[in-house]
Amino acid sequence: MPKFAIDARAVTKWFGEGEARTCALREVSVQARFGEMLLIVGPSGSGKTTLLSVISGILRPDSGDVVVDGVDLWKQPNDAIAEFRLNRIGFVFQDYHLFARLTTAENVAIPLILKRQPWNAAIDEALKYLKIVGLESRAQLPPVKLSGGEQQRVAIARAIVSQPDILIFDEPTASLDGDTGRSIIEFVKHQVLNDNRCILIVTHDSRIFDYADRILRMEDGQLKGIDPGGAK
Ligand SMILES: Nc1ncnc2c1ncn2[C@@H]1O[C@H](COP(=O)(O)OP(=O)(O)O)[C@@H](O)[C@H]1O
Ligand SMILES: [Mg+2]
Repeated sequence: MPKFAIDARAVTKWFGEGEARTCALREVSVQARFGEMLLIVGPSGSGKTTLLSVISGILRPDSGDVVVDGVDLWKQPNDAIAEFRLNRIGFVFQDYHLFARLTTAENVAIPLILKRQPWNAAIDEALKYLKIVGLESRAQLPPVKLSGGEQQRVAIARAIVSQPDILIFDEPTASLDGDTGRSIIEFVKHQVLNDNRCILIVTHDSRIFDYADRILRMEDGQLKGIDPGGAK
């Protein structure tokens, strides 16, 4: 196993042209270990989503290296990057990105279908993961019939169904009420985090700071060192 789950070095990303040109990430470096839950906090527009996108193979940086699970991600050909994301990274988007016309079970099965597992086997596996997140009884319903907290758990089930080592959450509790937000993070901490897994969460929700192993602060495209609990 490589030393770090995530090892990003001097990552820089610019957006736009001319006067609209903005630097979203300025030589950002961050490391995260297996078995660790790392939080990144910071104001809106500080570059958090951009950083997660670069780390998870969604957005190519202008410079810098991103080594995830021992793989130098942006040095790989595009199809290998897509394959790597599918197999090794579970990404939970802020607004879940569930498909309204699929059932809850089908939504969870998507990564397995993409990996060319037979449909029935993929659905069976999805049901196992729905049970883990406590939503077995919702398997045949469309996501709109579920509460926000339940939809978030479906998104988590989909992110872990292919057993990735690395889980990345973009503001997972932003649209949830306090108790639901806390119960989601407690669930992630106790059921999803294990020795082999690394969880990176971006948030500005102070209610979940207590669950983190480490908190870093993002400001204006830069990560401000290790925050010694000062964010709490
Ligand atoms: N696709 C894009 N095109 C142009 N500018 C962008 C794009 N995505 C992000 N930005 C800019 O980059 C900066 C960082 O954005 P973002 O990473 O979304 O911040 P955060 O997630 O912390 O709110 C902001 O100034 C934002 O306007
Ligand atoms: Mg964002």
